[in-house]
Amino acid sequence: MVRKKLIAGNWKMNCLSAEGMALAKDVAGAVKGSKFDCDFLICPPFTLLAMIKKCLRGSKIALGAQDVHFAEKGAHTGDISPLMLKDLGCGYTIIGHSERRVDHFEKDELINKKAVAAHNAGLNTVICIGETGEQRDAGKTIKVCESQIKGSVPDDATAKNTVIAYEPIWAIGTGKTPTAADVEEVHAAIRKTLVKKLGKATANKMRILYGGSVKPNNAKELLSLPDVDGALIGGASLKAEDFINIAKNACK
Ligand code: PGA
Repeated sequence: MVRKKLIAGNWKMNCLSAEGMALAKDVAGAVKGSKFDCDFLICPPFTLLAMIKKCLRGSKIALGAQDVHFAEKGAHTGDISPLMLKDLGCGYTIIGHSERRVDHFEKDELINKKAVAAHNAGLNTVICIGETGEQRDAGKTIKVCESQIKGSVPDDATAKNTVIAYEPIWAIGTGKTPTAADVEEVHAAIRKTLVKKLGKATANKMRILYGGSVKPNNAKELLSLPDVDGALIGGASLKAEDFINIAKNACK
């Protein structure tokens, strides 16, 4: 099964306008001048989405948000609806990132609801899962991921509207990564769980990204594993050169 790799940048709560526009233009320029065999996505903070959309005009890089509310509109002060993201030109939204699961107490049920709403609005989702360091030490990694997939991936998920991102929490922003063998074991287990939930045809086509301290120097090893279909990149997505070098090292 050939799955086109997705190289996705999660800028998190970084960049003011000048910095964000410069970064997006640098990435767009580098992608335009090359023939990477992969898809690109960048997910700036909400404040920059409209601006970055303009910087990406004419490029093949998709634009995504980092979170979304489940309601179309209404009394939800401070929240952003899927229709608003669609209206801005977003193609994707990240959902259930561990920083939202922790900082905003988001649970699988809510993440599932957000995913359904995003899909209904015509957005694709990147649904994040992953274990804490404690859970890993207790040998619970696969169990935790299975349970998060079962709870947070909606029944309407297709290989087109959904991407899974496996991000071990202890690897995010720490410079630590699991071994390649560990990553492949978890990704294979995730795919198995997706087969049970969504059927073989969908599961085999669905992209499963790895995230957590992906850098240019480890991208080739991690992204050449059979069940790793791209990367969700935090820190290294804030430097155009690093982001592009990850794609260079991981995609032909
Ligand atoms: P990192 O973050 O690449 O800085 O580890 C990844 C993520 O949280 O998506």
